[in-house]
Amino acid sequence: MSTARVRLGVLVSGGGSNLQALLDACAREDFPAEVACVVSNVPTAYALERARAAGVPAVVVDHKAHASKAAFEAAILEALGATGVQWVCLAGFMRLLSADFLGRFAGRVLNVHPSLLPSFPGLHAQRQALERGVKVAGCTVHFVDAGTDTGPIIGQAAVPVLPDDDEKSLSARILVEEHRLYPLAVRLAVTGQVTLDGVRTRVAAAPSTGELALRSPGATK
Ligand code: GRF
Repeated sequence: MSTARVRLGVLVSGGGSNLQALLDACAREDFPAEVACVVSNVPTAYALERARAAGVPAVVVDHKAHASKAAFEAAILEALGATGVQWVCLAGFMRLLSADFLGRFAGRVLNVHPSLLPSFPGLHAQRQALERGVKVAGCTVHFVDAGTDTGPIIGQAAVPVLPDDDEKSLSARILVEEHRLYPLAVRLAVTGQVTLDGVRTRVAAAPSTGELALRSPGATK
């Protein structure tokens, strides 16, 4: 007997490539979740087109059209409630959610961020990494708490920063890993394979890299 798939609500503000990665994962029969609703605070976000193309309800809740943050969040909660959403995935959603909103989905709100947190939280994380001169960058999927990119980490993927990288090339390399990591983290989280342990998590899945290390610089010639 097939168990009902977990219903995801994806909050977006932009192009939606991470949303697409989740939609593509959900198209696989063995994936334990489905995207039940997509909500954008930006009426022109391309992510909405991706949702419509996948036949998923695409809802605009424009923060500029609401008198307060509470009214804005109430409208989002209404859209999520109307589609039976159980878990919330932030995918390039550029608004901070209140503790009250997060409390409605306690321990069931995830986010993807383009840095190896806790380094470089907030905006322009890839540019921050370049400006700081790190040799290894990457992305993180984490539970969302009331801070900015401070929630318990579920998974991370690292990439090298190449000598002639700019914000565009580094962002593109990190985005490839985001699209791999986010569906995996969602699968583990919604199937109970991630347990919260204070600010940390225990994940019932082993790391995977060829050599269990990414070195930059690597071996000298
Ligand atoms: C991604 O890099 C994500 O990590 C960050 O915003 C970007 C959104 O990209 N939070 P997309 O809209 O999913 O393509």
